[in-house]
Amino acid sequence: MLWRKGLLFFCLVAGFLAVLFFLTSILYSNYYGRMRDDEALNAFQISLPAMPGGTIPLGGGIESLRKSDPEKLINPLPMTTAVIERGRRNYGYYCVHCHGPGFDGKATVGQSFYPLPTDLLDPLVLSQEDGPLFFTISLGYQRHPPLYFTAAAEDLWSVIHYLRAMAQNNGEKKTPR
Ligand code: HEC
Repeated sequence: MLWRKGLLFFCLVAGFLAVLFFLTSILYSNYYGRMRDDEALNAFQISLPAMPGGTIPLGGGIESLRKSDPEKLINPLPMTTAVIERGRRNYGYYCVHCHGPGFDGKATVGQSFYPLPTDLLDPLVLSQEDGPLFFTISLGYQRHPPLYFTAAAEDLWSVIHYLRAMAQNNGEKKTPR
């Protein structure tokens, strides 16, 4: 008869635990709602608010540069000592490894090119207006990398002033660093 009492006891305890589990699960389900039951809005159920003006650029950018007439691009910077100094620094950042400290293409990277990168103090380069030079450097051509995404436009314009200043320097080539 002992095993019957044991079974009864076991059933009671198991029943008690089951009821306790059931009650607590109801209790907690109220406190911790599931995400799937939360209120949510799907994109297609609402109309999106109008985008504020000026969010999408309609002018400027590389596309408008590509479409522009190189002859009509004007250097926005004045040729001052400060701008030339800025150009010198930027030449050291963006050009010197290819065009070299002597502007003749003899540089760490430049010497791997055949023929060497153009001598930047050559009259064929300096006889060009600032606009076409900026256009060429920014968008690249043949083996020239497009620097539009590498350097800020004004930094490139400043390098052009720097090159002109170096050419005026009685042909004496100054090292950019
Ligand atoms: C990855 C190497 C590289 C870098 C960096 C580079 N150049 Fe050049 N550059 C060249 C090569 C190569 C040429 C000759 C291109 C050809 O003939 O295919 C050239 C040609 C030029 C020319 C001659 C354009 C013409 O009309 O003949 C100018 C001007 C010039 N580079 C300016 C610059 C300036 C300024 C910078 C820095 C802002 C610069 N380059 C950075 C490799 C480079």
